[in-house]
Amino acid sequence: MNQENQPLKFGHFDDAAREYVITNPQTPWPWINYLGNDDFFSLISNTAGGYSFYKDAKFRRLTRYRYNGVPMDNGGRYFYICDGDTTWNPGWKPMKTPLDAYECRHGMSYTRITGRKNDVEASVLFFVPLGENAELQKLSIKNLSQETKRLQLFSFTEWCLWNAATDMENFQRNFSTGEVEIEGSTIYHKTEYRERRNHYAFYSVNAPMQGFDTDREQFVGLYNGFHEPQAVLERQPRNSVAHGWSPIASHYFDFELQPGEQRDFIFMLGYVENDDDKKFVGPQVINKEKALQMMARYDTTAKADAAFDALRKHWDELLSNFQVETDNPKLDRMVNIWNQYQCMVTFNMSRSASFFESGIGRGMGFRDSNQDLVGFIHLIPAKARQRIIDIASTQFPDGSCYHQYQPLTRRGNNDIGSGFNDDPCWLIFGTTAYIKETGDFGILDEQVPFDNQPGSEETLMEHLRRSFNHVADNLGPHGLPLIGRADWNDCLNLNCFSTNPDESYQTTENKTEGSKAESLMIAGLFVFTGEQYVELCQRVGQNGEAQRAEQCIQQMREAVEKHGWDGSWYLRAYDFFGNKIGSNENDEGKIFIESQGWCAMARIGAEQGMPEKSLDSVKQHLECEHGIILNQPAYTHWHVEMGEISSYPPGYKENAGIFCHNNPWVIIAETLAGRGQDAWQHYTKILPSYVEERNSLLHKVEPYVNCQMVAGSDAATPGQGKNSWLTGTAAWMWITAAWHILGIQPGYDALTIDPCLPKEARTYRVTRRLRNAVYHIQVNNPNGKEKGVSQILLDGQPISGNKIPYAEGEHEVEVTL
Ligand code: BGC
Repeated sequence: MNQENQPLKFGHFDDAAREYVITNPQTPWPWINYLGNDDFFSLISNTAGGYSFYKDAKFRRLTRYRYNGVPMDNGGRYFYICDGDTTWNPGWKPMKTPLDAYECRHGMSYTRITGRKNDVEASVLFFVPLGENAELQKLSIKNLSQETKRLQLFSFTEWCLWNAATDMENFQRNFSTGEVEIEGSTIYHKTEYRERRNHYAFYSVNAPMQGFDTDREQFVGLYNGFHEPQAVLERQPRNSVAHGWSPIASHYFDFELQPGEQRDFIFMLGYVENDDDKKFVGPQVINKEKALQMMARYDTTAKADAAFDALRKHWDELLSNFQVETDNPKLDRMVNIWNQYQCMVTFNMSRSASFFESGIGRGMGFRDSNQDLVGFIHLIPAKARQRIIDIASTQFPDGSCYHQYQPLTRRGNNDIGSGFNDDPCWLIFGTTAYIKETGDFGILDEQVPFDNQPGSEETLMEHLRRSFNHVADNLGPHGLPLIGRADWNDCLNLNCFSTNPDESYQTTENKTEGSKAESLMIAGLFVFTGEQYVELCQRVGQNGEAQRAEQCIQQMREAVEKHGWDGSWYLRAYDFFGNKIGSNENDEGKIFIESQGWCAMARIGAEQGMPEKSLDSVKQHLECEHGIILNQPAYTHWHVEMGEISSYPPGYKENAGIFCHNNPWVIIAETLAGRGQDAWQHYTKILPSYVEERNSLLHKVEPYVNCQMVAGSDAATPGQGKNSWLTGTAAWMWITAAWHILGIQPGYDALTIDPCLPKEARTYRVTRRLRNAVYHIQVNNPNGKEKGVSQILLDGQPISGNKIPYAEGEHEVEVTL
């Protein structure tokens, strides 16, 4: 307990169940989970707040949510249980009736929330069955008392009128468009189905309802909140039929439970599309055939349970592709469960929908998606393949690309446009990782369009060549890559000079004409991914191209050594005028993390010891108790020539926040330098299981996943996390742990084993499945070395080197450091 008597922790990990168990509903921020694996997704908080959508959180939003509301986290799927004079919700909100017991278990694509009040227990299991466009809510209510209980139950959810943006804006239209149909125990939401929409949603329950509501005002009361819906307080459904305004869906039940008796209800929130000629079965009467079939698949407890078992098995299988056993449960639970899970969620969502991203603002990022996919290739390679093709299709013929695209249309987003000059490199990064995992060189021959224009198709390999060239052909006065709008740090806007508060720094006119702005981060990234490109060219027999590329890379190395080294670290950039950024000469922003990470990963200037010096400088100037800070000293005032970065107060976001995404670059560079102890120290500072042990109250956001940003030491709130879930940190933490610390990295024809460990690590075992093979890898480190494999036995036979050639079947690998 701290001074205000608030707990420092709000739950605990249950590793055997692969769950995080929240035991206090008043978490310092809503702690959420994601449901859905294919096309239908839901966000769900620990008090059942959140919303659902089909494929696109902007254009196909099923249920309404109030962002940044008062109170926080308003809107969701609520069950009101009336027991005599008491009304309560299993997830505590929205009534906030004090519960006798509360527990929320967030698991792999499911959440179970259980509440108990006056000897009635209600447990709701939320999940999306595999391959189904619906969220199931299995509600089990049990009478734990010695007496018969008479209970009333109201379900509640509020429809969003599909387009989540206009739903919040265009009231002159949408207060008149809302339409529903009620049939049996199902409430159908059919707004705009009469015209251009071919889809409707429904909310059903597998028992004959005894009342319902579909009009919000009649159910809640115009001046009431969700915590005091009039119909519930009066135990009296209105049987209302919505016409315009705000349609909702609520079912009503009035029933008895004998002592010890339990009753289950299976609620289903579903989405249906119909062909144009099959939309209606009568005048304005929607065709319910598909909805009824969906309901029939889950209309008993047994069927719902079977679907849940299938989901659990699905996750057993996914996670079995990489499992580690060490003597450190905090590491194991992250590597085996939560890190992989977060990678899957970032694959599904990119940066679109979380409690920090509204689902209406952003599409899929070109660079983000390429990095994210490296975190899940080993889980779902086929989807990674499709993702690569989709991303590459938004590239322009000159190798540049749309910065973002919309998932529903897969088209590039014109509002944001192009010009982020790091973007193309990431396509090489994603594609080569995919081929190494799968051996699918065939993907390189796929015909992929530019800007989605039919007729413009070239092979994916050609797209990679243009990606490489886009950097090589756009060099500045020092022979370093021109930065364009920005590189990975899209708040370092060196060509923007925006003084108009009404425009975005990132997408306003980009004044690159005559600019000398160059990026050392892109330089490092180019060398690193360029070498991946060279290796790939050699593999596919393009040796001339490999040689040409190698020359470009060599020139870049030289340019960095000559113009990019500041004495003890790599510079960050040159600005529009050719002035240094991230130099000891500057008053503020003397050193930045990104160029240290990438140039040290690329081992630029290794002969002069530059990588090691740079990493030492990171430790000296950027490391703090909560991780590695992006830049130091923080900018204390705004610089028009730097753009958004200096718009942030010191310690937050790109101005000296701990931007977790880039910490792994330094950690990986440490492992490449063989410094296992340092790598481990940086790694565990931002590893969620370590953070949660330190203090969940301070950290604020979910303790089971990484967040994008933790406030740095200049902030008013050092250590406080923000922007949880959807961050490239997930994939990078995965790459760090799997490839570089545990040291098991897929190559084109062999698995490379090259651990880099803290001295105290003595032994661990990894099971790795790929390419129809299973490798049981036992690593022994009897002398407490940080790096360096001395011997490997493959199926009992010593091999030379540290590469295990791929071969189908099961293999025992014994590694000694
Ligand atoms: C964006 C990334 C960007 C990072 C750093 C994130 O919000 O999604 O594309 O690299 O911020 O600015």
